[in-house]
Order: sequence, then C-alpha cells, then structure tokens
Amino acid sequence: MFKSSTEEIPEARSVPRHIAIIMDGNGRWAKQRFLPRMAGHKRGVEAVRKVVRACGERGVEYLTLFAFSSENWRRPAEEVSFLMRLFVLALEQEVSQLHENGIRFKVIGDLSRFEPELAGLIRGAEELTANNRRLTLTVAANYGGRWDILQAVRRMLAQRPELASCFSESDLAPYFALSYAPEPDLFIRTGGEQRISNFVLWQLAYAELYFTNILWPDFDAAALEHAIASYQRRERRFGRTSEQLPEHPEFASQRELTG
Ligand code: IPE
Ligand code: IPE
Ligand code: MG
Repeated sequence: MFKSSTEEIPEARSVPRHIAIIMDGNGRWAKQRFLPRMAGHKRGVEAVRKVVRACGERGVEYLTLFAFSSENWRRPAEEVSFLMRLFVLALEQEVSQLHENGIRFKVIGDLSRFEPELAGLIRGAEELTANNRRLTLTVAANYGGRWDILQAVRRMLAQRPELASCFSESDLAPYFALSYAPEPDLFIRTGGEQRISNFVLWQLAYAELYFTNILWPDFDAAALEHAIASYQRRERRFGRTSEQLPEHPEFASQRELTG
C-alpha cells in the first residue's frame, strides 16, 4: 500500500512519481484552425504519444490521463461516437508499441457503458501489459471522481458489511480505481481552465496543481519539462511547517529534541 498524504509525508523525489493530466483544449485547437473539433481530438492522440514517451524518459512511474469524463456523454452524439472510434483505433495501433516499451496500460472508469468491442480491447491491452513496470499509463475513460468514491464505498461495504457503522481512510483506500498507484504528485491541466472537472478528487488532496494555457494538441516534452520545473520549485508541506520537513536542515535536530 502507498502512503496517504493526509496521514504521512509521501516519499520526496525531484521528479514526480505520478503525474495526472486533464488533456483539455482539443476543440479550441481545431477551431483556431477552422477545422472540425474532431481534427483536434486526432492531434490530441499524437500529443499523448509524445508525453508518454517523455514521461518514460524522465523516470515518471505513473501517468494518468483524463480522456473522457462521465459528463462528456452530454456532448453531441456525433462527437461522442467519434471519440469512441478514436479510442478503438488508438488501442489497435498503439498497444503493441506500449508493450514493447515496458509500459503497463490501465483504464479507470465505468466500462459498462462502452461497446463490447472497446471493452474487450481494453481488457486485452490490460492483460497483455500487466507485468510491465517501466511506466504505468492509466487512461481515465467514462471516469468521474464522484463515481469513483461511490463505487469504492459500495464495493467495500459489499465485501466488508461489518464496516457500515465505522470505517477509516485506509479501509476505503484499496477500493478506489487508482488503488494500484501512489497519489498524484503533480496535476496538470492544459487549455487554460483552472478547474478539476470531476477528475480524481480523493487522491488530489495534496497534489501540486499546474495550469497552462497551452492547448492539449500543442503540449509536448518541452511543456512537460516546464511543468516539472515548476513542481521542483515548490515546497510540499502536507500541513506542517518548513522546519518539520525531512529535507529541511533543522529536521534531524528537531527530531532529537522531540524524540
Ligand atoms: C479535451 O478537449 C478532450 C475531451 C474532453 C474529450 P475538449 O474537446 O474539451 O476541447 P475544448 O475544451 O472544447 O477546447
Ligand atoms: C475535462 O475536460 C475532461 C477531459 C479532458 C476528458 P472538459 O472539457 O470536459 O471539462 P469542462 O467541461 O470544461 O469543465
Ligand atoms: Mg474542454
């Protein structure tokens, strides 16, 4: 199990272990070029390819990408079905390459609403890459942070009904869709909006937030580097004072004093 940021200070690393990204701005990217929104989504897949490669090279261990929210079904039917086809196509084209590169592929979200073909491809890709450990790439599809919290509580109570009257954070933690990953260290949203849009809610408790106006199809390795550099300039205190942090020079002497 990974450390909970509200209980302990997670291990500090200069490169974030887990980056979670809201890939936003495909539609505006296309509109600026007088192209249909779909053209932006297609280019968005190319940006995914670049960022996955850059994260692998940079030593990021977990990359979680928000591809389709539980609210995105409300878009025009034509756009929704295009996005579903694009997902199928991307899986067909990319999975063997991911596997060759040692990437474990996962999808989080409610898959029950997807066509059987897409759900089957997802399951196949997850099984094929299950033992890879260089980078875990998670795609959040038909995902919502609130859905995740509710499904976790429901599954926990179904398995452990004795917890109904009282349960703790650590009782619930194993049931979240992202339970196999440490909490995100760095959250990035492209496209200029500064909101979470029902992405992972629980696990972002102490993530560093980074917003950029770059539209997702233009996001690349250099843009990722900027985000990581911003992350490296921050002091993550988890509710404590600077002097209490393990990397602070006073930490060792404080510990001796307090025992
Ligand atoms: C993000 O880009 C992709 C999805 C939500 C599927 P958008 O399609 O939201 O692009 P904008 O925000 O309209 O520019
Ligand atoms: C968030 O983007 C979801 C994804 C990137 C998949 P949206 O474009 O759906 O978010 P809002 O509607 O602007 O908040
Ligand atoms: Mg958007």
